[in-house]
Amino acid sequence: MCGIVGYLGHKPLVPVLVEGLRRLEYRGYDSAGIAVVRDGTVHVRRSPGKLSKLEEVLGREPVDGEFGIGHTRWATHGRPSEENAHPHRDCSGRIVVVHNGIVENYLELRQELTAQGHRFCTETDTEVVAHLVEREWRDDGLAAAVRRALTRLRGLFALVLISADDPGTIVAARNGPPVVIGMGEDEYFVASDIPAILAHTREIAFLDDQEMAVVTREGVAFTDFAGAAREKTPQHVAWDPVMAEKAGYRHFMLKEIFEQPLAVRETIIGRTSAETGHVFLEEMKLGADVLAGIDRVVILACGTSWHAGLVGKFLIEQIARVPVEVDYGSEFRYRRPIVDGRTLAVAITQSGETADTLGALREATRLGARSVAICNVVGSMVTREAEGTIYTHAGPEIGVASTKAFTTQLVALHLLALAIGQARGTTPEELSRALVRELDQLPIRIEEALQVNDAIEELSASIQNRRDCLYLGRGVNYPIALEGALKLKEISYIHAEGYPAGEMKHGPIALIEEDLPVIVLAADDGLFEKVVGNIQEAKARGGRIIAITTHGQAPALEQVLTGGQDAVLAVPDAHPLVLPVLMTVPVQLIAYHVAVRRGCDVDQPRNLAKSVTVE
Ligand code: AGP
Repeated sequence: MCGIVGYLGHKPLVPVLVEGLRRLEYRGYDSAGIAVVRDGTVHVRRSPGKLSKLEEVLGREPVDGEFGIGHTRWATHGRPSEENAHPHRDCSGRIVVVHNGIVENYLELRQELTAQGHRFCTETDTEVVAHLVEREWRDDGLAAAVRRALTRLRGLFALVLISADDPGTIVAARNGPPVVIGMGEDEYFVASDIPAILAHTREIAFLDDQEMAVVTREGVAFTDFAGAAREKTPQHVAWDPVMAEKAGYRHFMLKEIFEQPLAVRETIIGRTSAETGHVFLEEMKLGADVLAGIDRVVILACGTSWHAGLVGKFLIEQIARVPVEVDYGSEFRYRRPIVDGRTLAVAITQSGETADTLGALREATRLGARSVAICNVVGSMVTREAEGTIYTHAGPEIGVASTKAFTTQLVALHLLALAIGQARGTTPEELSRALVRELDQLPIRIEEALQVNDAIEELSASIQNRRDCLYLGRGVNYPIALEGALKLKEISYIHAEGYPAGEMKHGPIALIEEDLPVIVLAADDGLFEKVVGNIQEAKARGGRIIAITTHGQAPALEQVLTGGQDAVLAVPDAHPLVLPVLMTVPVQLIAYHVAVRRGCDVDQPRNLAKSVTVE
């Protein structure tokens, strides 16, 4: 959702804030703004639209200060206008706040504060925080006023505040969405996400829920909301700042697609033995005895991570022979799920901050489930709530459309399936060894799969002006059809449906008309001939087939697909259970090139945000 940054130090303030916001723009880009304190006065600059608009404002009306905060917004309450852009002020204009999340009781608070004489000038929920702190102001400083105000707030929020009346102090509070505190040399940073401050420091402390940080030039004091001191040691974050840049690629998304060989290698490395086929996942913190005792797995996730979960169901059932359910986070928690101490809840989330997934995980653990997270962000909320975490070492994913996080999630699910199967003794050693060998080969095969890029760039011209697209797949590749359709929808705004190929004749076939692009995942997985049958059905009705298959099966498909507009894209041959990773590459590239041709904003598609920290 929204991005937050704050700085107190010796560097020129505004560039630190603006650069920090640039690295957070993927979290929201409806408006941007900064507030700085200089000589006892708060100065605010804001603009609707992207960060570049704020930079134009700063060009016309430059400002500087001693410390300050900034915000990039994903609108929830109130239109994306200048007055609704953060930072928001109290009546005096001397207290300013930036906020990520939702203050659920803002209407009640607004009425109360209005009756007490406070004047509101925005439609946002955030503004109540500034007025509440103003009302709670005594002579004991900003942190104490914020603490009193917090007792009145309901909902999930990350708040960062400064005041002209408490010079050299930044106060941050977390109840839900992330807040990180960066510790440099005589300088301190506050942010909603690590990339904002990585260029300056890698020593980072993570606020927990119901915690505050009071940042001054003397250091950072951590407390709970009641003011009791909390001990916190900064962690060293190994992410390389260069990894968060575009490195010559036109878009983050393309860079991240091409980073997949490395990301997958990093996720596998050191976790397997090619000799024995064993996997080592100590960080999961669930011993073999616990894994041996589970009789069911429940996977909880949203969006692309949910698609990874669908592949995970297939993998865990095939490899470990344990029944698996996959649920949307937003559905699971409200359906009185049946869970007990023999259930393993697996929360899959790139960001580790998705509110629906976190809510579902909490519900599962409340009901007694054991838990593990599959996550890409060190120290994120989910990693602190689950018993253990299998980290995907994909590096920062900036493009809003998830790519390398997805393929590394698939690899992590392989490792999890093997760990469960090995603990239960249900995975034959030969299968373990074969899969570990296949995983070791994956980075090279992804590298080869990426060679379809040029062909896809060319064929994307024929999809660019289509209104609809159909994606079909079977078995373990059916979720890849869903993922391909989601990718196309979210970045090119073309309507796309993903379906199990065998289900097409039960309804979606009615959609097929002359030249409808039908993207078919035809894997060499024992279902190939059935998929060829489905291809014939679509082709007979005028569909324009783009078949994604393996090198081994490509010649057979080329014989079937002789139509001028049809196409066959091939990825390397591999074990059917690792094929979904390879089949993903072409569907990502199709979405990317179609979106580029349509002139869409690939990295920041409309209405979306990278981490969805509201329900
Ligand atoms: C992916 O392309 C999406 N933007 C979105 O579906 C995403 O996967 C979803 O919001 C879940 O995010 P998470 O993995 O950070 O929990």
